[in-house]
Amino acid sequence: MDHFDLKNGELYAEDVRLADIAAQVGTPVYVYSAATFCRHYNVFVKSVSALDTLVAYSVKANSNLAVLSLLAKQGAGADVVSGGELERAIRAGVSPNKIVFSGVGKSKAEMARALEVGIFQFNVESRSEMDALNEVAVSLDKVAPLAFRINPNVGAGGHEKITTGKAENKFGVDISLAREAYARAATLPGLRVQGVDMHIGSQITDMAPISHAIDRLLTLVNELRTDGHEIKTFDVGGGLGIVYDENTDTPASPQDYGAMITEKLKEQGLKTIFEPGRMIAANAGVLLSEVRYIKTGGARNFLILDAAMNDLIRPALYGAHHEIEAVRASSRAPVTYDVVGPVCETGDTFTKHVNLPEMQESDLVVLRSAGAYGAVQAGQYNTRPLVPEVLVDGDKFAVIRKRPSIDDMLAGEQIPKWV
Ligand code: LLP
Repeated sequence: MDHFDLKNGELYAEDVRLADIAAQVGTPVYVYSAATFCRHYNVFVKSVSALDTLVAYSVKANSNLAVLSLLAKQGAGADVVSGGELERAIRAGVSPNKIVFSGVGKSKAEMARALEVGIFQFNVESRSEMDALNEVAVSLDKVAPLAFRINPNVGAGGHEKITTGKAENKFGVDISLAREAYARAATLPGLRVQGVDMHIGSQITDMAPISHAIDRLLTLVNELRTDGHEIKTFDVGGGLGIVYDENTDTPASPQDYGAMITEKLKEQGLKTIFEPGRMIAANAGVLLSEVRYIKTGGARNFLILDAAMNDLIRPALYGAHHEIEAVRASSRAPVTYDVVGPVCETGDTFTKHVNLPEMQESDLVVLRSAGAYGAVQAGQYNTRPLVPEVLVDGDKFAVIRKRPSIDDMLAGEQIPKWV
């Protein structure tokens, strides 16, 4: 459930007219609902409340400082994958002892900073990374709390580009090599083995692969305990899918997901870590855009928006579906459009063959479910400014990332004298 609703024939974010945001901030612009973020976070927490948990919001889904701060105030921890995300989480007020550091290629400088602030856990993905972490920890006279991310060789996820738990994916330590890795880690002075970790994919709608992967890791936990390791944490990663398309998507509910995991982990004496991203952020945001031009009469009817693939790349990258909706309800007859952006690529297409009430120039539309992996994956292709972000809370709103000027965009570039 989200808080983008029609009131008197107009789409609102909570109690703010989207048309007012468009008028004041301009378009395209991401608009987020604070109440929706909080609601999703709390639904998630409740669904696993029978367990001893750390819910570490996956910062990569939407890393705006205001969003992180909002979630931190609700009690969220953070799952970070870079030094940049780590600094964001700290500046937003996430307590370091609620931060887990994931990712297949952490640098030594990133490890050092994470050790310095005292994060809760490093999710280590290879033996060479383990050696690097040990070296950094020893040099700083620290001990790094470690879990290995295990690759359980289980396929899941809505798209091959976001499936991570198969043996051929780059992620994690192959489950068949895990005991050896733990045995080695236990001998290193800069490391303290504390848990196991997995993350098998994103936009997962079927619980079976998650359940299967957890079973594999639980078998491993038993073996590791027999080997003498003290295993105290089990990080199940993120991945819970959401509804993008009401006609086709039927993800498991957070309640079913929580019940399945609770059942498996409640008697295991493990602190369970979750890294949800999309489930919390996706339906808390829309991309608000204006119709720039309309092209009809040829093979197709094109609705040319001012938003483009550089602002929301998911359709171009994954063939992802984002529901498109007019901001003002109208009784005009429906027309079938291909909805596209101004970027000079045919891939700059949000959707094909969508029925919308006949549109006119300057009408506003939203692309829904854009709060996760939207703004964070935006770029400046075609020298288009990074799309701004607005947070709504009740009847107030604030720009939480401004649209850069052309000067801002070009500030880092230089023409060497010899050109
Ligand atoms: N933990 C780890 C280690 C991850 O790599 C991810 C996502 C998450 C947690 C959060 O997963 P979620 O709960 O959001 O499914 N750009 C793609 C999604 C890539 C996901 C990458 N990892 C998209 O737009 O669909």
